[in-house]
Amino acid sequence: DLGSRLPAGFTLGVATSAFQIEGATHEGGRGESVWDAFTSQPGRVVDGSTADRAADHYHRVPEDVELMHDLGIDSYRFSFAWPRLQPEGKGSLKQAGVDFYERLLDRLDAAGVASMATLFHWDTPNELRGGWFNRDTAQRFGDFALQMGERFGDRVGSWVTVNEPATVTLEGYALGVHAPGASRLFNALPAAHHQLLGHGLAVQALRAADVTGPIGIVNVHSPVVPASGSEADAAFASLFDVLHNRIFADPVLLGRYPVAPEGFEPLFSALADVDPADLLVISEKLDFYGLNYYAPSKIAAGSGAPATPDGASAAMASLPFHLEAWPEFPVTGFGWPIAPEFLGTALDDLATRYGDVLPPVVITENGASFADAVTLDPDDGTPRVHDGARIDYLAAHLDAAVRAVSGGGAASVIDLRGYYVWSLLDNFEWAAGYTQRFGLVHVDFDDFTRTPKDSYHWLRRVAESR
Ligand code: BGC
Repeated sequence: DLGSRLPAGFTLGVATSAFQIEGATHEGGRGESVWDAFTSQPGRVVDGSTADRAADHYHRVPEDVELMHDLGIDSYRFSFAWPRLQPEGKGSLKQAGVDFYERLLDRLDAAGVASMATLFHWDTPNELRGGWFNRDTAQRFGDFALQMGERFGDRVGSWVTVNEPATVTLEGYALGVHAPGASRLFNALPAAHHQLLGHGLAVQALRAADVTGPIGIVNVHSPVVPASGSEADAAFASLFDVLHNRIFADPVLLGRYPVAPEGFEPLFSALADVDPADLLVISEKLDFYGLNYYAPSKIAAGSGAPATPDGASAAMASLPFHLEAWPEFPVTGFGWPIAPEFLGTALDDLATRYGDVLPPVVITENGASFADAVTLDPDDGTPRVHDGARIDYLAAHLDAAVRAVSGGGAASVIDLRGYYVWSLLDNFEWAAGYTQRFGLVHVDFDDFTRTPKDSYHWLRRVAESR
């Protein structure tokens, strides 16, 4: 069974992010984030919702930590809400925000659950005008990281600087389907560079603050496959691989941006001209590399209807390529293909591309949304959520990861240290609002009742069987 095949010392965890679970957006002097501004604009979120209450975690820390304790996992990955700690994105840390996270860390300590804290999971303070399009935001983020390192450096188990700069760049600044809602297409690339620079400055700041825990970044990787053997599909597939994967991994691990695919050079001029001194900052040595994996991408030339329901936007339709569906795979609630073997591919690609410079790897997110519903047990009336599809998804992915690093393939050189399920709780799923449930624990968004799903009990058995 799975538990007994996990490498010695392997960390099993669950992940969340502040904006998606906390709620209490107007409490404790929290400032506005770009996501508060975005969700208040009509038409941005499919169900018209906001994250004002989200999963109400801000008021339910004891209950949520208790759920993790009973689950028997080793570590909890959460994010610090930047606008709770620096409401305007600058200045000294706000005491109410500090107190909230101190209480969370106290509870985790008491429960014997380690912490992995992310400094930026998309909730940019709205006061930082221009957001990540503005180079100064990287400096502001470095300053935030320094203060956080000084304040929490002896308490946090491990540190993540930024979460998925690819998603923020592509969805937030290129396509406009995430906050801040800019549709700059290829002119969005400065937002990528500034997030990466912010990452590097944060690594330097955390080291200067002498934090005790290891430091890493979290990138989302999606192996890219051309839809056909045609030259055009192959060219756009390598373009998408550069845009989605390599722009974010190469500078961090190799200290340089990838070469633009042939014919697309003019699109990448913003990255070709960056100051080499920035690349030295961006490639500060890391203690671990966080990999988020959800699904592979199949790319075809020509504009077309996007394959995911959350991706519909005019900007996307104007691109010279599109994502295609995978009829050979079952899909999640989002319509994403369920293809665990591609997690093995993502690990193989990391090993092949970055070889000896790749630090230990942690799978910092993996999970799936399904239309889960609470039913009452016919025997004893206990509320249950039968999410067998999620159990199958998680078991197959964890299995694929363990196989990839312990088999004879490229990924066998990877030192894989852990696996975090996205997510502990059903939560505010960005532009999909409350329509996509990713949790091991069901949340009733009217009264915030938590109901552990079958997948929660499954993960508890895996943790126990080690
Ligand atoms: C993000 C999470 C998100 C999840 C599912 C990841 O890209 O880090 O915040 O909820 O994917 O979409």
